[in-house]
Amino acid sequence: MPGTRAPRRPFSGRRVVLGVTGGIAAYKAVTLARELTLAGATVDVVLSQGALEFVRPLTFEALTGRPAFSSLYPAGDPLLHIRLARDADAVVVAPATANLLARAAAGMADDLLTATLLATAAPVVVCPAMNDRMYAHPATQSNLARLKEFGYHVAGPAVGPLAWGEGEGPGRMLEPDEILAHAGRALEGRSPLAGRRVVVTAGPTREAIDPVRYIGNRSSGRMGYEIAAAAWRRGADVLLVSGPSHLPLPIGVEVRKIESAEQMRAAVADALPQADALVMAAAVADFRPATAADQKIKKESGAVPQILLEPTADVLRATREVRRAGAVIVGFALETTDVVENGRRKLEGKGLDLLVVNDATEPGAGFEVETNRVVLLQRDQPDEALPLMTKAEVADRILDRVEGLLPAAEPAA
Ligand code: CTP
Repeated sequence: MPGTRAPRRPFSGRRVVLGVTGGIAAYKAVTLARELTLAGATVDVVLSQGALEFVRPLTFEALTGRPAFSSLYPAGDPLLHIRLARDADAVVVAPATANLLARAAAGMADDLLTATLLATAAPVVVCPAMNDRMYAHPATQSNLARLKEFGYHVAGPAVGPLAWGEGEGPGRMLEPDEILAHAGRALEGRSPLAGRRVVVTAGPTREAIDPVRYIGNRSSGRMGYEIAAAAWRRGADVLLVSGPSHLPLPIGVEVRKIESAEQMRAAVADALPQADALVMAAAVADFRPATAADQKIKKESGAVPQILLEPTADVLRATREVRRAGAVIVGFALETTDVVENGRRKLEGKGLDLLVVNDATEPGAGFEVETNRVVLLQRDQPDEALPLMTKAEVADRILDRVEGLLPAAEPAA
């Protein structure tokens, strides 16, 4: 098995054709080939003639453990393009030069990569990479529009530093981790969450004591960030309302950063009328200082401050009226005693469709760890205690339940 990383959904056991064309961003395709392989995919690399000027097949072969191809007519295998096209679960072209976009848009099949693109029924992701003027040219823009008509997914380009001496502009290829996320979305296939609006909350809140001090909690945000990433991968349109967190922002997801419980309530109230699902993974403060001092509280005054607390609004309860009919509402609970009994009470009391309960006393569960051990509680369903698993795996199990709870109706406009 290549590498040591655990195979990940939806890459594990899937076949990806990685097309590489002749741009300087081809060096990033090397990392992408490695990331796809480490995620569990079988990666067939196809290089254009131009790509061979920048990178060598051997580089990819050493990382994927498979031959890398460039000839349309390899000795003894005239139907290679048909085989690659048929076996692929997704085709990713990274970098996709202006020339590749033009040839693909015209339906040409003059090399192994374009012939494979023409012959495949698998989803195709193209990642443009070129000089900003080439990107802006009407020919390139109309080629991209045509490829979108074919159903291709165009990922990027980003705005950023271009090749040496070219300054900044739109045309920079997405980074390998971003392309990996887009490839995952293409591989995920048709999910009931596709096109649905999902709101996820994550992280801790901070309740100000004075301009520099606050009351917070140990939530890292990881559980909510994994849910947001997994929902986007399933094709949802995702808003992540996040308290302070050091985690990298999930790719493809719209993020609204907030600090206090009150700001989280306002953000959820704002988004909920359009949401098909709300997943409240945030650890929202239950109490806040009744007043926050305008100036830093100084110890020279000699007095030890007494901080009077008042309750915050419960976000789930306070936003109940603005839920869409049929919206799926998921809550989390961290309990230390009578885990399931307390959980069932919260399920009813907060009007939830699904409650994900952590036992805070379990090793490997709860805050500040990458794993979780949870029990899923749903009305009229027996409890399901999941084994210890990564938060990414827990996210998928939760979203499987959300999919089952979604009404068959059309997604929110
Ligand atoms: N929650 C919320 N607003 C709050 C506190 C919690 O919406 N002010 C949400 C959490 O995001 C979570 C669920 O309510 O989805 C349960 O959170 P938990 O802290 O376990 O519930 P509490 O009602 O605060 O109960 P407890 O007394 O056990 O703390």
